[in-house]
Amino acid sequence: MRAVVIDGRGTFRLAERADPAVGPGLVAVRVHAAGLNAADLQQARGDYPAPPGWPADIPGLEIAGEVEEVGAGVTDVRAGDRVMALVGGGGHAEKIAVPAELLLPIPVGLSWREAAGFPEAFSTAWDALVVQAGVRAGDRVLVTGAAGGVGTAMVQVATASGARVVASVRRTALHNRVRELAPAGGGVDVVSPGQEGERAPYDLIVELVGGEDCLRRVELLRTRGKILVVGVQGGAVAPLRMVDLMLARAQLIGTTIRGRSPAEKALLAATVRTGVVPLLADGRLRVPLDAAFPLDRYADAYARLAGPGKFGKVVMLP
Ligand SMILES: NC(=O)c1ccc[n+]([C@@H]2O[C@H](COP(=O)([O-])OP(=O)(O)OC[C@H]3O[C@@H](n4cnc5c(N)ncnc54)[C@H](OP(=O)(O)O)[C@@H]3O)[C@@H](O)[C@H]2O)c1
Repeated sequence: MRAVVIDGRGTFRLAERADPAVGPGLVAVRVHAAGLNAADLQQARGDYPAPPGWPADIPGLEIAGEVEEVGAGVTDVRAGDRVMALVGGGGHAEKIAVPAELLLPIPVGLSWREAAGFPEAFSTAWDALVVQAGVRAGDRVLVTGAAGGVGTAMVQVATASGARVVASVRRTALHNRVRELAPAGGGVDVVSPGQEGERAPYDLIVELVGGEDCLRRVELLRTRGKILVVGVQGGAVAPLRMVDLMLARAQLIGTTIRGRSPAEKALLAATVRTGVVPLLADGRLRVPLDAAFPLDRYADAYARLAGPGKFGKVVMLP
């Protein structure tokens, strides 16, 4: 099979690799589309190694494709099924072997590209907002960096949970597109960075940007509010006035998925399968696509991922 591989110098190249072996509990998937994530670039720089059991030098954390073969003991899927999954790596290739318990069914009518952009962003959003922060109807939620892959998912999951969402987006050209993420009547209020305080107080702040000022936003929280730290590309060090945290009786929650145990990942996949995929199937959630590239244009795909002004997900089409 062909795969994108990390060449050890922070860059990528295309290579021929043996097809993955389909051991017990595994499923071989022919990848039709695969999502790109900032973690792929971090992995190429050597900052974010793949967890054990996954290809160490093939990036790609989410895939959509067709089941080709199932390993011993797999009974839930069969050849020809359309599946998507959040994986530990190896997605930017023509084939991948995935533990059956991580597979999610692709709803009828959803394209490969949309399916490829779903697992990472929406698993992250559901797990952070619903499972960890316990978002509830009527909550006021601020999402920073809201036009990207994870941001557009956060805005939708929060809205679907009945929250009133304020989205912070630095490209004014994207404000309307983010506003339109809410189903009719839902209402997403979109602001530019620096204006978030005008809509305070918040029950929950989802931090997707980071940077030196981000924890000053503790002062924008309601009593017992929460800050969820999910992305810190804008800077991973931020001073916190602890007295503000104390006075608000607030919680600071950090999260990642990649380093979790296989059992925790299987549990999250089960939660997403039953709680989130149905919302995708009935159109209450959608996957905004910024751009799609064939596998041999991998360099353009990663450049687009790293570039400014995206709305939603970048995907590759092996
Ligand atoms: N913890 C986890 O489990 C987890 C899971 C997935 C992703 N993440 C992290 O979450 C973050 C978002 O991921 P993503 O896939 O949504 O990335 P993305 O698609 O690249 O979106 C990032 C968004 O943030 C905006 N942004 C970047 N720097 C900014 C700044 N200094 N001020 C204001 N806006 C800024 C970008 O705007 P421009 O277009 O203007 O640059 C873009 O809209 C990344 O850091 C990623 O590593 C974490």
